[in-house]
Amino acid sequence: MREQLLEKFGELFGGSAGAKVYFAPGRVNLIGEHTDYNGGHVFPCALTIGTYGVARKREDKKLRFYSMNFEKLGVIESSVEGLKPEKEADWTNYPKGVMWAFGEKGMEVTCGMDLLLYGNIPNGSGLSSSASVEVLTGFILRDMYGFAVTNQDLALIGQYSENKFNGVNCGIMDQFAIAMGKKDNAIFLDTATMEFEYAPIRLEGAKVVISCSNKKRGLGDSKYNERRSECETALAELKKVTDIQTLGDLSEEQFEEKKDAIKDPVRVRRARHAVYENQRTMKAVAALKANNIEEFGRLMNASHVSLRDDYEVTGIELDTLVEEAWKVEGVIGSRMTGAGFGGCTVSIVKDEAIEAFKEQVGKAYLEKIGYAADFYVVEIGDGPVIL
Ligand code: GLA
Repeated sequence: MREQLLEKFGELFGGSAGAKVYFAPGRVNLIGEHTDYNGGHVFPCALTIGTYGVARKREDKKLRFYSMNFEKLGVIESSVEGLKPEKEADWTNYPKGVMWAFGEKGMEVTCGMDLLLYGNIPNGSGLSSSASVEVLTGFILRDMYGFAVTNQDLALIGQYSENKFNGVNCGIMDQFAIAMGKKDNAIFLDTATMEFEYAPIRLEGAKVVISCSNKKRGLGDSKYNERRSECETALAELKKVTDIQTLGDLSEEQFEEKKDAIKDPVRVRRARHAVYENQRTMKAVAALKANNIEEFGRLMNASHVSLRDDYEVTGIELDTLVEEAWKVEGVIGSRMTGAGFGGCTVSIVKDEAIEAFKEQVGKAYLEKIGYAADFYVVEIGDGPVIL
């Protein structure tokens, strides 16, 4: 892979002398969905699929970007001066946003660069191809300029750029999972305090399977920001009757006691999801630590039901994938993962059931939706690296 990427870089940008090859993973969230902007817990892990980048600093101010995933767009040129998001949002808004964000944080990116990217995360699949590009860009800039930032800082800078440059009010989960990834471990992160711990994922006789709906969506055009503001309004209403900072501060019982303060039934459901999902995530991690994978699976299933009925971010594609998965013998748990509205589901499937899973779920999906789903048996990998 490394050699091929360098060769392509050389063809496009006049040789590859001085260029370096980098990689940042994608991520999948096992449980804890739409909790990260509500002060709750999440439980994602980095994947071994992700984004490769070849980069070389330039002496002038020029930026030359090329993605092997969007070859038709060719080399896209701009300048490191006066960075602003392009209306016609193309992928270059992600690396540019991160360069801009470093500047905002007092770390000026003074020179241009040539950058080639190749990602093997399906685009728009909900496995965080954009956060992967953001963390990758930050990782490259740190290496190029020697900026004194930790991997956690890279996550925060990536999120900042996505919020402020790309206009998506995402939480910290994706960039954190990518920047802090650890092989064979998921990350149990409390987004209220940023305290985290690694939890080994030892699935004896089972694997993590991702089913991709092939229904594309970007967070910009989804109801993501709407959900976020519904939760903010519900929180403001609850704050009038109880002393909390975030929805993640509430137990299920406390929520049931105080929920009448929320004046709209839709918002009650949104907040209920945020509260219960946070509690479920803590219970799921405890179950995993106790080696009770069956309970972990049950909590995954309950997470999906809540995202479907209370949070309303699933849709027929994700519901079909999950509901068909639940019918397959040997499926320990299955749920949508990521923002929703399309993208992927994550399932834990016993080894001997994987073939039947792909076949049965694939067939039912094609019949009902009219186009095929894709299935990936994935591995949990490390954070960004220089190759
Ligand atoms: C997207 C966002 C994350 C998180 C998830 C939902 O992936 O980028 O911050 O909110 O949706 O859990």
